[in-house]
Amino acid sequence: MSILTLEDLTDSELNHLLDLAARFGREGIPAVRGGRFVCGLFFNPSLRTRTSLEVASVSLGAHCTTHDVGAGVWKLETRDGAVMDGDKAEHVRDAVEKFLSGVYDCIGVRAFADLSLPYGTNLHDTVLRAVATASHVPVINLESALFHPMQALADLLVLKNHCEGEPSDHTVALTWAYHPRALPMAVANSALLAFTRAGYRVNLVHPEGFDLDAEVMRVAREHAGDRLAVHHDMNDGLRGAQVIYAKSWGARSEYAAPVARDHLKGWIVDKRRQELGNPGAFMHCLPVRRNVVVTDDVIDGPHSWVAEQARSRVLAQAAVLHEVLEP
Ligand code: CP
Repeated sequence: MSILTLEDLTDSELNHLLDLAARFGREGIPAVRGGRFVCGLFFNPSLRTRTSLEVASVSLGAHCTTHDVGAGVWKLETRDGAVMDGDKAEHVRDAVEKFLSGVYDCIGVRAFADLSLPYGTNLHDTVLRAVATASHVPVINLESALFHPMQALADLLVLKNHCEGEPSDHTVALTWAYHPRALPMAVANSALLAFTRAGYRVNLVHPEGFDLDAEVMRVAREHAGDRLAVHHDMNDGLRGAQVIYAKSWGARSEYAAPVARDHLKGWIVDKRRQELGNPGAFMHCLPVRRNVVVTDDVIDGPHSWVAEQARSRVLAQAAVLHEVLEP
């Protein structure tokens, strides 16, 4: 079972993973059968995802190796038919098809969007899909250009833990926040899909021109109907929300053409904004720029769930690896 997006899973598979992760949180992570090997291919930096993959693997009794592509292992070419006379020493078909997927039982891949390329070019999740195509073993998306399913799974776990009653009794304000440079959309895309699918009310809040991916919006609307509202005023979008989930992302127009964004510095989650919520519990996937995206008093305050979110990454990762290694 490869997981490139949570949309790959049926409702029953998704709920099973959430139940399993919650059980691991209560009872500990059980060992799978011995001699299992997990590989992490990191084309970009990571703290939580790498740590979660390693800790979850070892907790399950599997061995995990993580590779920084281009730093310690060869730079990988992903394009079919490429004339490899540049800086990439090895093709993914040779690295993954002919070697890694023969020695590992599962391969995790982190490959962000390349914001120096036009938005449309990133829609193909080229690197992730090249590895998945070359691999004979399951591939797990550890954040691609479009999606971050392991983060969304951990986020759902946290919401389930705190939000009593029906999901539709709770409003999550998924809000854009200022960042000095454009970032990928993957976290926001996956959060929107996961929260709408799980039945929460979602206020998607962002400045004009910062729309999420059109296909993601279509599916989110299909999940949510009138439970999804879009706001372009941060205060309006946060008012009354039980949860404020902040994340910055780049506008489609900023891909391949960075633009000044200083005029958006006011898009910060501070105490005054949090108090518009009810209670406005704060979530962010981390890493976060303090006092740019969120003020210290909010992220360190009594209604901050970021520590639980980060630690839930290990449980979510363990649940996924458990099902992949011992289905
Ligand atoms: N949230 C998240 O994916 O963190 P890292 O980038 O540190 O892995």
